[in-house]
Amino acid sequence: MTRKIHIFDTTLRDGEQSPGASMNTEEKLVIAQQLIRLGVDVIEAGFPISSPGDFRSVSEIGRLAGDDCVVCGLTRAVDADIDCAAEALRSAKRPRIHTGLGVSPSHLREKLHISEDECVARATHCVSYAKRYVNDVEFYAEDAGRSDQAFLIRVIQAAVDAGATVVNIPDTTGYSMPEDFGARIRSLVDNVIGIENVTIAVHTHNDLGMATALALQGVRNGATQVECTINGLGERAGNTALEEVVMAIKMHGDELDAHTDIVTRELTRASRLVSRITGMNVQANKAIVGANAFAHSSGIHQDGVLKARDTYEIIDPADVGAAGSEIILSARSGHAALRHRLSELGYTFVDSEFDEVYQRFLEIADQKKEVYNEDLESMVQERQREVAA
Ligand code: KIV
Ligand code: ZN
Repeated sequence: MTRKIHIFDTTLRDGEQSPGASMNTEEKLVIAQQLIRLGVDVIEAGFPISSPGDFRSVSEIGRLAGDDCVVCGLTRAVDADIDCAAEALRSAKRPRIHTGLGVSPSHLREKLHISEDECVARATHCVSYAKRYVNDVEFYAEDAGRSDQAFLIRVIQAAVDAGATVVNIPDTTGYSMPEDFGARIRSLVDNVIGIENVTIAVHTHNDLGMATALALQGVRNGATQVECTINGLGERAGNTALEEVVMAIKMHGDELDAHTDIVTRELTRASRLVSRITGMNVQANKAIVGANAFAHSSGIHQDGVLKARDTYEIIDPADVGAAGSEIILSARSGHAALRHRLSELGYTFVDSEFDEVYQRFLEIADQKKEVYNEDLESMVQERQREVAA
């Protein structure tokens, strides 16, 4: 059996930090219901001290989730934040406090104005303080991707010693190269005493378009929790897209020694719901859930897919809840696709007629981005009138 990778969804916290994507509590509850249907292991429901609305969302999602999944609230390494998160999580059957602070030189020097020793002391304190309220405490080392590795080991050791159940290694700025990020995770596995009793999480951002690659490299090197969002929503260029990481693990599970418990046929529904509620459109060529993810436009590809779907599709659309493969008729389409569509519409032509039909089709296709069934119907009817005249 491969390792189970826990899917930690942060659409409602980090995803909501995407400019223009804010949601009210009712909308968050609708999304949380879909996340439960998807089978995520953890829902990060918000940052309770940040606003009364976030407090309410964490509290109500905690109540809604019951035993279905862990519900998590974010805090800074500040006692008042932790008090507030603990209060918001009182309704949750499986509460988790997610606390931590920056660990990179720039965060220590420019943002927090603290020394490395002070950072380690604050890591110990925030985990121990959160442990007074809940057993399940996740520590995040913000901007770990740009931290000094020896120092990162020290901070993570302090968090583990203080009782963290999960240690989260974020590449907050999406700066890392996948191999280097993987090596960071491996070095924690090799050097932090007791880390084998703790879940290692990876939380990566997409500033260089590599969030999914970074997360997978983390999994390859020992991480068993991936933090991600539906549609890759999130600060700046976004977070790791849940649908991408889940399907990559599904397709490459053996080599990664990994599986998830996500109900993948719910992925498309989740994507559409989040897009509708946040008003953030999904780009057409987005992996897994984009409108073109299973659409074929060029003649060579269409011919291949009509012969056998897997010539140009690695995923069965039904597996992710998508409607099906689509053949888009355009000026790039060839004989096979046109013949196939016309026969679906009930028209068959002998070879001697078909060349002429295809030329008519190209004339229409050159004027439009896509040729629809109605265009084909009128084309065939016009031809029939001409032949009859
Ligand atoms: O990107 C990040 O570092 C975060 C932490 C707060 C976990 O979102
Ligand atoms: Zn983040």
